Amino acid sequence: MRKEIEFQLISPEKAPMDLLLEADPSEEAILKYLPTSQCYLAKIEDKTIGIFVLKENTNRTWELMNIAVKTNFQKKGFGSKLLQKAIETAKENGAKKLEVGTGTFGYQLAFYQKVGFRVTSIDKDFFLKNYTEPIFEFGIQHKDMLRLTIEF
Ligand code: COA
Repeated sequence: MRKEIEFQLISPEKAPMDLLLEADPSEEAILKYLPTSQCYLAKIEDKTIGIFVLKENTNRTWELMNIAVKTNFQKKGFGSKLLQKAIETAKENGAKKLEVGTGTFGYQLAFYQKVGFRVTSIDKDFFLKNYTEPIFEFGIQHKDMLRLTIEF
């Protein structure tokens, strides 16, 4: 039988940093948005398997600041369930759209577009300007950030 995911709203200071760092390698960047965000833990049988973090920006626009699934639970469909829950939560909070920033390459682009996010803009040199350490994935350096949006 497929085990059910339960979502739990937690106070930001209780968010597990190791999991947040899976999605965003800078603790400094995370600590900037965390205190003013909503953090949800995803649990199966009381064990944390993932997290997502939502923040209200302006004008009924919300942003998905972080989403991560523990390595041994990845690629099993849980991330998509977290993403759906993040979308529903933003809608329930009155959002007209939900945005997310991500690199310009990598499987994350498929992950977001599969549920309906569309690329809306590019923030050139974002990772060079905002991170002190270079970020490499698949041996390629992340330089620019794509912003993806889903509208309700
Ligand atoms: N390789 C290729 N495609 C992948 C993938 C991978 N490793 N992981 C996810 N995808 C894509 C696929 O299109 C997949 O659909 P499919 O299974 O029908 O092929 C879709 O995403 C949904 O996958 P799912 O199993 O629901 O995702 P997940 O549970 O692995 O969670 C993340 C996805 C991104 C949350 C997870 O990989 C993660 O925590 N990564 C590290 C943190 C991170 O990068 N967060 C996003 C920052 S922008």
